[in-house]
Amino acid sequence: MIDSPRSISGREVLEVADSAARQAGTVIKAHFHGHNQVKVKGRSNLVTQVDMLAEQAVLSILTSEYPICKVLSEETHNATELAGYTWVVDPLDGTNNFVFGIPFLCVNIALVKDSEVVFGLTYDPLHDECFYAQKDSGSFLNGQRIRVSKRSRLEAAIVGFDIGYDVKWGEEVFSLARPLRPKVHSIRVMGSAALSLAYVACGRLDLYFHKYLYPWDIAPGVLLVKEADGMVSDWDGQAATPLTHQIIGAGNELRQEFLRWLVTCGVERKRRTKPCRDDA
Ligand code: IPD
Ligand code: CA
Ligand code: CA
Repeated sequence: MIDSPRSISGREVLEVADSAARQAGTVIKAHFHGHNQVKVKGRSNLVTQVDMLAEQAVLSILTSEYPICKVLSEETHNATELAGYTWVVDPLDGTNNFVFGIPFLCVNIALVKDSEVVFGLTYDPLHDECFYAQKDSGSFLNGQRIRVSKRSRLEAAIVGFDIGYDVKWGEEVFSLARPLRPKVHSIRVMGSAALSLAYVACGRLDLYFHKYLYPWDIAPGVLLVKEADGMVSDWDGQAATPLTHQIIGAGNELRQEFLRWLVTCGVERKRRTKPCRDDA
């Protein structure tokens, strides 16, 4: 049991967050493959009425059970500072996948104390897979203990990444992906950073990296991967917090090899923005 405020009903954090994620999941499932109203937030960055409805579903449960906690959520409370206990929520991670009918998306909920994640839950409603972790208690998928993969060499690894919405950063990621391709078993562009980190935690993906993410994308994943014996770090190897933007999630040996490879690409410490030499 983690040290956290008490819920109004007396239910544990896991039970409350799980029911909030499932409510949002029901909304997402009901509209998957439907005709959804889509608004453009920015280039390639969409929001649908389902993002809003799913967020309402999550927040109505979390705020009524924990009136004492703050909320940082992608659609309606995205400027909250992380201090004290804060629920961090992305009601639908993988909106582009959702809009195009690609079944790889999730609901993402974390409880953060100051900037430390003490509880994280990532729920894939289309496959009914619930990944969760509590600080110092291991990571689980539908009640079964999970761990990161044992593959420790890039040459055997399947590596996922995403390009985000910023064209320049996306190009930088592609400039790394090109020389990376022949060094690894295979690579994937995933479309949901949060579900990708959950896949790292259970060993389906060996490593995942991204150039720029937000707290609601990564907060549960930081704990899921750590409690599964791996680590999410920044591109300098420092342990990630929900406020880290550039991330790498993997088992430790593989992550170290990837960090060394980044250096050979000329992606220097603290200035990891240069395009990579194609040294395949
Ligand atoms: C996005 C997804 C995507 C990542 C973007 C995120 P959204 O979240 O996680 O994989 O590349 O940077 O913003 O918009 O689907 O919630
Ligand atoms: Ca997101
Ligand atoms: Ca989202």
